Amino acid sequence: MSKGYLISLEGGEGAGKTTILEKLEKYFQSKNIEYITTREPGGVHISEQIREIILDKDNVEMDPKTEALLFAAARRQHLVQKVVPALEAGKIVFMDRYVDSSLIYQGYVRGMGVDEVFELNQYAIEDLLPDVTLYFDLSPEVGLGRINKDDSREVNRLDLEEGSFHHKVREGYLMLKDKFERFEVIDAEKDLEAVFTQVIEVLVKRGVING
Ligand code: TMP
Repeated sequence: MSKGYLISLEGGEGAGKTTILEKLEKYFQSKNIEYITTREPGGVHISEQIREIILDKDNVEMDPKTEALLFAAARRQHLVQKVVPALEAGKIVFMDRYVDSSLIYQGYVRGMGVDEVFELNQYAIEDLLPDVTLYFDLSPEVGLGRINKDDSREVNRLDLEEGSFHHKVREGYLMLKDKFERFEVIDAEKDLEAVFTQVIEVLVKRGVING
């Protein structure tokens, strides 16, 4: 039985999750709270290798089911090697994307079906769902505009999808928020400080940290 907290960060492209994670690290360090930050797909060597295959701009012939299986495989290795041990040690685990990304991108947007993709992932995650999911909501225009301004960010195969893809991503997340009690919507169009304040308020409300 795990003792820590699993917090996933979800959202469309350019939602600012990575920047918020950096701010969370500083905050948790200053409070001496045990935590780790990690990301999907990736987080450990094998999963980072799978990430490269999935996001490679040249892999245009990738079949949707192959893509879903690779995400699930990367997820499994990451959980076993890094996430579960951290939770068992009582740490707070902040994860930049988790299973909801598969439900939305592969299940909803690519049309494999949310329930079908959940079932596929269940083999990998064995009921390990987040305690809290922070969904960073913003319009795709704002998100993609941010990405285009940031020269340091890699542009991956999924960033290159057309506008309707990104609109569908948002639509999917907004649908999930009504389905899962663990979902918290963060208004990610606000400036960074205001977004961070919302995140801390949610973590206090959910009992992850004290106010
Ligand atoms: P990111 O690390 O920049 O968020 O990029 C990862 C990309 O992979 C992003 O476009 C979302 C996508 N993705 C899926 O399609 N399914 C998944 O299960 C995960 C974790 C990510």
